[in-house]
Amino acid sequence: MNITYYREINGEIDLFKCCYQQQLPLLIKGPTGCGKTQYVTAMAEYLQRPLIKVLCNEDTTAGDLLGRFLLKNQETIWQDGPVTRAVREGAILYLDEIAEAREDVIVALHPLTDHRREIYIDKINETIRAPSNFFCVASYNPGYQRGIRDLKPSTRQRFVSISFSYPSIDVESEIVIQLTGIPIRYVTCLVKMASAIRSQAELGLRETVSTRLLVNAALLIKAGMDPRDAAYMAIAEALTDDKRTLDSLKQLISFSF
Ligand SMILES: Nc1ncnc2c1ncn2[C@@H]1O[C@H](COP(=O)(O)OP(=O)(O)OP(=O)(O)O)[C@@H](O)[C@H]1O
Ligand SMILES: [Mg+2]
Repeated sequence: MNITYYREINGEIDLFKCCYQQQLPLLIKGPTGCGKTQYVTAMAEYLQRPLIKVLCNEDTTAGDLLGRFLLKNQETIWQDGPVTRAVREGAILYLDEIAEAREDVIVALHPLTDHRREIYIDKINETIRAPSNFFCVASYNPGYQRGIRDLKPSTRQRFVSISFSYPSIDVESEIVIQLTGIPIRYVTCLVKMASAIRSQAELGLRETVSTRLLVNAALLIKAGMDPRDAAYMAIAEALTDDKRTLDSLKQLISFSF
């Protein structure tokens, strides 16, 4: 049974099913708060497979992912890392923010993300082949400026890729209503305001307003907060610290409500 609500935007549910069936790893590109995690969570439920999430960062080591020896009661025992567990269990492995991981770590996963579908753990000298129900999905946000540390072509080309962006006004309204149940008049104001902010490049925002921020504002409204205050705290303050930009956002918010 699906518990997680996910509103399809552009054929991505079928894409996930096809990739899963053909054992082709999937890479989701998209800005923060556009529904990547929600999508993967909903798909794991749909396919009735356990989901193992790994949030990658520059300090992530191959040992963090594959496993390590631990000292327990004066004994050295091996403990599988999340990637190894996912492979053994035939789970869906979600490598969130994969581009944040160091290259040597990503490269250690190459044999898992191509036709070989296996990992080699040198510390225990074991090669583990992934069962047919193992699936690897990764995400990254191309908006973060990483300079030269972008994903290598040899990594990218192991994945089928899909780009996510923020949905149309109608679809985004539907998502906010579904997730929060606030009156439609507030949803319309929020979503139109988001569209206005997104179209104003001159605001100079690092990342623009996401569906997540609209949901947060809607939840504050649902809790009884004044809609303008809710939008200001949940959206404007979350987007910037710059005083002038905050003033412009405040104006946009008062125009919208
Ligand atoms: N298509 C959608 N269907 C259902 N909910 C959505 C959809 N798009 C966005 N959302 C909602 O937006 C919020 C943020 O979504 P989510 O956490 O999946 O973003 P994300 O892309 O994983 O962001 P990040 O890159 O910061 O991890 C959640 O409340 C989620 O339910
Ligand atoms: Mg996420």
